[in-house]
Amino acid sequence: ELYNFRLIKPDTKVYGIIGKPVGHSKSPLLFNAAFKSVGLNAVYMHFLVDDVEKFFNTYSSPDFASGCSCTIPHKEAALKCMDEVDHIAKKIGAINNIVRRPDGKLIAFNTDYIGAITAIEDGLLALEGAKPAPGSPLSGKLFVVLGAGGAGKSLAYGASQKGARVVVANRTFERAKELANKVGGKSLPLCEVENFHPEEGMVLANTTSVGMKPNMDQTPIPKHALKHYCLVFDAIYTPKDTRLLREAKEAGAAIVYGTEMLIRQGFEQYKNFTGLPAPEELFRQLMEKHA
Ligand code: ATR
Repeated sequence: ELYNFRLIKPDTKVYGIIGKPVGHSKSPLLFNAAFKSVGLNAVYMHFLVDDVEKFFNTYSSPDFASGCSCTIPHKEAALKCMDEVDHIAKKIGAINNIVRRPDGKLIAFNTDYIGAITAIEDGLLALEGAKPAPGSPLSGKLFVVLGAGGAGKSLAYGASQKGARVVVANRTFERAKELANKVGGKSLPLCEVENFHPEEGMVLANTTSVGMKPNMDQTPIPKHALKHYCLVFDAIYTPKDTRLLREAKEAGAAIVYGTEMLIRQGFEQYKNFTGLPAPEELFRQLMEKHA
């Protein structure tokens, strides 16, 4: 059962996910189970929200909502309603995690980029084996981001913050240039990325929708180009096994699934909401069971 309303008391902490549509979100399932597992007096619900500004004006009372997650289409608009925004989230221009501080003020984060970047870092660490170097394994790596939309921005800012040399490749070249300039990187038209291999052992992150269900036969970069990459990440998670990731594996690269970004961004949200470590195994089991 998702909610047990008899357990909700005046002092129960209320969390939720705002979005439109929102009913499909598995977040209530994950967070309620996580709260229960450590005996927290808290509940997490779906909030179908049309007008995000109105929502935050109406529910500005500190008694309401201890925090919320934010999904499509509100990730940009909600940012303007916050008292404080984490500096990377501000640069990305999108938030997905809002926490009410003890003084009642709302502070927001972007956990999407943390989820993706930590998944990629762990993938690189596994490649390095037993002798990881100090600092981020992304530091100094040539990091190619395909796409310059919301997810592209998250990956480009996240990787550049870790000291990677970022290259943004996008179908609309102007958008690639704009994002590359912002992160101090280089840009390419998407069609040129197959011939771009100034060095071996690069990292590739796809954030375009190419290969997403129902166009599962498509891929944003031809297979022959993948041999220059040591690790390939795909932000797409429907399907989990995209053509890009299948071909990257065949080309000998390590791969990181989009589902890993999804679950890890949830770990970060839980930590921000509760100040507790996330019950990672529980989240993973539930995600698998309700896939
Ligand atoms: P998100 O927030 O998920 O990143 P978005 O902001 O709509 O979504 O961005 C989608 C990205 O996929 C863009 O980089 C887009 O390229 P354009 O800037 O040229 O539109 C890219 N994209 C979508 N369909 C594509 C296609 N058929 N071929 C190549 N790139 C595509």
